[in-house]
Amino acid sequence: MLIVHTLSELRHALRHAERPAFVPTMGNLHAGHLALFAQAKPLGDVTVASIFVNRLQFLPHEDFDSYPRTLEADRTALQAVGCDVLFAPREQDLYPEPQTFKVLPDPALADLLEGEFRPGFFTGVATVVMKLFAAVFAGKPHGVAVFGKKDYQQQMVIRQMVRQFALPIDIVLGETQRAEDGLALSSRNRYLSEAERAEALQLSLSLRALGRDALAAAHALPQQLPALEAAAMKALTTRGWTPDYLTVRRRTDLLPAQAGDGDGALVVLGAAKLGGTRLIDNLEV
Ligand code: PAF
Repeated sequence: MLIVHTLSELRHALRHAERPAFVPTMGNLHAGHLALFAQAKPLGDVTVASIFVNRLQFLPHEDFDSYPRTLEADRTALQAVGCDVLFAPREQDLYPEPQTFKVLPDPALADLLEGEFRPGFFTGVATVVMKLFAAVFAGKPHGVAVFGKKDYQQQMVIRQMVRQFALPIDIVLGETQRAEDGLALSSRNRYLSEAERAEALQLSLSLRALGRDALAAAHALPQQLPALEAAAMKALTTRGWTPDYLTVRRRTDLLPAQAGDGDGALVVLGAAKLGGTRLIDNLEV
């Protein structure tokens, strides 16, 4: 596996590629990321990973400085799954001057849920992903990029960006990978104490229960949903969590579920803080 840091090194490494398959990450790779690489591998003529902790998508009080940076372990893991090129830019390689030009996602999608609690988050994500796409795919007839459904709203923002800018890139989605007990794999799980790790599973259990209750409410969904969501938030709060949201939305636009939205149309999404760690998860129902 070739490791490159600058844009010109990357372009040189990819000069013969016609259909790169790309997995962008912030590193600290776990089995969830590696499953995305396994999915990417057969889809392109060269597999590219990026590792870059993107300052633009962190709020000032968030964990940009403490975000785990584990390049050596990540390199070993990527090599083992057959990644061809690892692009690991330094900050000055990707942002040689202040990034005043940004990609502004549609607020109707990006200001909801994660965007409400992390203002500017999706602008930071869309901006860096556009830069990474330009770095990997410029001059290529076609490309593929793989994103995990764990970041459900993120993959929707990216798909809308690719569609509206008519980028010649197929976006492929990977299912959320879970630990044996059901906890969604995340780099931030490593912040959890042993007791918090045992408790963390409650987020996905709450989402599952909320999804079941929502489907049972069927045609009275718009009337019953606020109470069901409030009860799910309260149950987590009682256990010591600080939930930002637990909600049932339409898969198409993440707007509140409507009467008659049933099996196959909905996604239950949640974000909640346990101790100092903010976890997100979701479940399609
Ligand atoms: O999902 C992530 O790890 C990041 O948001 C991404 C897509 C690599 C952009 O920094």
